[in-house]
Amino acid sequence: MARRPIIDRTIKALRDKIAGFHAAGETIALVPTMGALHAGHMAIVRRARRRADRVIVSIFVNPAQFAPHEDFASYPRNFDADVAALAGEIDLIWAPSREVVYPEGFATTVVVKGPAVADLEDRFRPQFFGGVATVVTKLFTQCGPDFALFGEKDYQQLKTVTRMAADLDLAVKVIGVPTVREKDGLALSSRNVYLSPSERAAAPALFRTLRASAARIAAGEAIVRVMSEGVIAIEEAGFAIDYFEARHAETLARVEHLHQGPIRLLAAARLGSTRLIDNMPV
Ligand code: PAJ
Repeated sequence: MARRPIIDRTIKALRDKIAGFHAAGETIALVPTMGALHAGHMAIVRRARRRADRVIVSIFVNPAQFAPHEDFASYPRNFDADVAALAGEIDLIWAPSREVVYPEGFATTVVVKGPAVADLEDRFRPQFFGGVATVVTKLFTQCGPDFALFGEKDYQQLKTVTRMAADLDLAVKVIGVPTVREKDGLALSSRNVYLSPSERAAAPALFRTLRASAARIAAGEAIVRVMSEGVIAIEEAGFAIDYFEARHAETLARVEHLHQGPIRLLAAARLGSTRLIDNMPV
């Protein structure tokens, strides 16, 4: 049976392990997650193994990035299955409790701007990137990684964390990993379990529209027209759209012409009560 990774739950235990890695001259890669691991997370883990001698996966459902009306309480949690999936793959699981991450009296947050205030996810989840930036900063200082790997699936999050690490001179290289999809194109997400069978059948329309729109824009069609037709296609598939936009791939600034690129298309839309996000390079 594959070797079970070490599971640390206190800062002291974690620091002892990390001191040992450093003393042996080993590099460390961190993969931050909220658990409920799927093949998308595992692709990041495999990429991390190629980058560093030691791999740490953090599992922490971060209350600070959920609004009161969001799904913090019902967010899928499956720690035993996560441990089994990681067995033989990584060195250490960092699984702190809420009290370890946010002890009584906790009073500091990291404020992010730039790609974090692009009028995309931040418009619909105003507390989200502050919560992510604060917990990711803590995970970085707790684990002292040389590399930290994030999925392109959460593209605005990847750009926000990359900007934050540069701005704060954090000694970690942030690496993006391409989105892993189901055979029909739906991006893997821990939240896909919320989809009913009919919603699941409709869900790949988001990917298909992103892909078709990216191809049309790359071929020189007018961005405004492609995007407004994309909105109609996504709505006809049964989604309620939060946004469907063409942005500069690095700054997330608005773009109107192909030559202002590189361009990334970003989308968020709801099927029933489930909110899906996805994105695609042009
Ligand atoms: P979570 O949603 O668990 O995602 C953990 C990492 O997996 C993120 O970097 C995310 O972009 C990546 N990921 C999710 N689905 C993916 C897919 N289909 N293909 C490739 N990568 C995928 O994102 C978070 O947790 C949290 O915000 C976190 C960064 C841990 C801070 O709390």
